[in-house]
Amino acid sequence: MNRDSPSKAVMVVMLTALVCSGLVSAAVVLLRPIQLNNQMLEQSRNIMRLTGLLPEQRQVEDEEMLDLFQTLDRRIVNIDSAGFDEEIDPLTFNQRRADSDPEMSVAIPSDLDLASLSRRSRYTPVYMVWKGNQLDRLILPVRGNGMWSMLRGYIALESDLNTISGMTFYEQNETPGLGDQITHEHWLKKWQGRRIYDDRGNPRFRISEGDVQPGTAMAEYEVDALTGATVTGNAVTSLVHYWFGPNGYQPFLVALHEHPPERPGGVTP
Ligand SMILES: Cc1cc2nc3c(=O)[nH]c(=O)nc-3n(C[C@H](O)[C@H](O)[C@H](O)COP(=O)(O)O)c2cc1C
Repeated sequence: MNRDSPSKAVMVVMLTALVCSGLVSAAVVLLRPIQLNNQMLEQSRNIMRLTGLLPEQRQVEDEEMLDLFQTLDRRIVNIDSAGFDEEIDPLTFNQRRADSDPEMSVAIPSDLDLASLSRRSRYTPVYMVWKGNQLDRLILPVRGNGMWSMLRGYIALESDLNTISGMTFYEQNETPGLGDQITHEHWLKKWQGRRIYDDRGNPRFRISEGDVQPGTAMAEYEVDALTGATVTGNAVTSLVHYWFGPNGYQPFLVALHEHPPERPGGVTP
C-alpha cells in the first residue's frame, strides 16, 4: 500500500479512535468504584456533620467517617402514609431514581408545588440520632429549585421535631458570591435554634428580608437575608415550606410526635 494513500490515512485514524475509545471506556469502568466511594464519603460527611456525633477537636479520617455513617439509624419513610416503610432497603434506596420513577413517585399539583419540583418520591431516607433511648436528632433531606439550579440539602431537627439543630446544602449551582452564599458555614450556623412551626403547627420559618430583628414575634423563625440573593433566599423559604408542610413531612412529624419511635435493638440498660 502506498505510504500516502487515503485508505492508509483512514485506517490510522480509525485505529487511533478505537484505541482512544478503549482507553476512555477502561478509565470509566476502573474509576467508577472510586467515584462512587467519593460520593458516599461526601454524603457521609454532610450527614454526619449534622448529627452532633463528630469529635470537635480533630479531623475525622475517611475510613472512620464511613464507619460512623454505617452505624447511623437510617430508615425509609413513606411520606404519604406518614410512617416508616419496612419493605425498602435503606442501604440500596436511590432517592434520585425514586424521584422520577413513575411507580415510586407522585406528581405535585402546580398550586401545591412550592419548591418547583413537579414530582417527588413517595419515599425518603431519614437519619435518626439517639441519646440513650430518646431520639436526639432527626435528619431529613430537602430540595427545591433556586434561581438557576436544584438546591439539595439536609435539615436536622432537635427532639421536639420543630427546632432546627443544623442545616447543610450539599448541591447547588447558584451564582458564586450571590446565591451560593447558602453554602457558607457562618450563614448556615444562623439556622441553629430557629423553629419551623408556630404553636398552631403552621410552618413559619423563613429567610428574612434583611437582618433578623431580635425580640420581634418572627425572630425565632427567621434567618438573616443574603445580600444580593433575595431570589435564592426566597426559594429556600419556599422549599422549607413545601417539605415541612402538609404535602411534605408534616403528617409524618405529627405521627412521630404522637408515637415516639423506639431505638433499634430495644431499650438500652
Ligand atoms: C448574572 C446574575 C446572576 C445572579 N445570580 C443570582 C443568584 O444566584 N441568586 C440570587 O438570589 N440572585 C441572583 N442575582 C440577582 C437577582 O437578579 C436579584 O437582583 C437579587 O436576588 C435581589 O436580591 P437583593 O434584594 O438582596 O438585592 C443575579 C443577578 C445577575 C445579573
